[in-house]
Amino acid sequence: MEIEPEQAYRRAMGAFATGVTVVAADAPRGVSGITVNSLTSVSLKPRLLLWCLGDESARYEVFAHAEDWGVTVLSANERALALRFARAETEGVAPEEAEAFGAAPILKAGIAWFACRTRERRKAGDHLIIIGEVLDFRVKRGAALTFYRGLYGHLGDPREET
Ligand SMILES: Cc1cc2nc3c(=O)[nH]c(=O)nc-3n(C[C@H](O)[C@H](O)[C@H](O)COP(=O)(O)O)c2cc1C
Repeated sequence: MEIEPEQAYRRAMGAFATGVTVVAADAPRGVSGITVNSLTSVSLKPRLLLWCLGDESARYEVFAHAEDWGVTVLSANERALALRFARAETEGVAPEEAEAFGAAPILKAGIAWFACRTRERRKAGDHLIIIGEVLDFRVKRGAALTFYRGLYGHLGDPREET
């Protein structure tokens, strides 16, 4: 059976393997997180990165208007966090699992963290491109959680001693 063009396109884009992050921002009822793999580095001087927010997301208002937000890059054993923050029903970040990185909330979990402030927003099709200035960042060693062909996987740290 022939597959729908949209499904075929998703399948093709799924061949672009990515890491998995959680973007977190303050929301009316505490900190909210969303699983994101559209993260892209934009500029080194100044440090800018972007991610794309789907306009159908139940969390659109929170993330579209957030000025300060944190990006947490998930490690190989944090798949459960990716699953959880992909659903609006479980978007809430408990105080004990978060910390403030400047004005941005980040998860204590993860292998890299970026504290960002929105520099620019641009509508593009059914997504909002959010460009943030990186105000601070941190990184540590560890295997990465990956997303490839629609499935989670992991990638060992090539710089870690075996
Ligand atoms: C691996 C993965 C990556 C995702 N990347 C993005 C992304 O870059 N941008 C986005 O808006 N949603 C992304 N999503 C979807 C959101 O996490 C979330 O599932 C979606 O917003 C629908 O949830 P909601 O309507 O309950 O908010 C991703 C989901 C997964 C599982």
